[in-house]
Amino acid sequence: MKNYLEMKFSATLKNVSFARGTVACFLLEQDLSLNLINEIKTIVSEAVTNAVVHGYAENPGELVMMELLLENNRLTITVRDDGAGIPDVKKAREPLYTTREDEDRAGLGFTIMEIFSDSVEVMSEPGKGTTVICTKMLG
Ligand SMILES: Nc1ncnc2c1ncn2[C@@H]1O[C@H](COP(=O)(O)OP(=O)(O)O)[C@@H](O)[C@H]1O
Ligand SMILES: [Mg+2]
Repeated sequence: MKNYLEMKFSATLKNVSFARGTVACFLLEQDLSLNLINEIKTIVSEAVTNAVVHGYAENPGELVMMELLLENNRLTITVRDDGAGIPDVKKAREPLYTTREDEDRAGLGFTIMEIFSDSVEVMSEPGKGTTVICTKMLG
């Protein structure tokens, strides 16, 4: 069984809930527990929020790409922006690390993604953008 979806949307925070809803719809037929669905929606929220807020500084003229792949009970979520990029990925992934303390960011986005995912891969280059790939086994 295999299913795939790819979409691009404007880099505005309004679209975070849209992305959350999309992943829930994508998984509707899997008959997953509410708990699992909520974990997956949270992964998507954190990754997309980062792309919008950090990648593009909330510029709706820019586009965030989200890709969902369901294959053999494994969900792969890819979120990509072509924005600012991350100078030090290792540091950015540390709990409580944030470059936007002023804006009430907790610095826990990557930590939450790691807790709810089976694997989190971050590829980034300053000035070029960031790709986050999270995988999760669905039971
Ligand atoms: N897509 C991205 N583009 C640029 N920087 C990012 C991106 N995602 C994360 N970062 C950097 O990594 C840091 C940590 O991210 P995160 O753990 O989600 O915490 P927070 O979003 O609360 O700052 C951010 O403060 C930011 O500097
Ligand atoms: Mg974040």
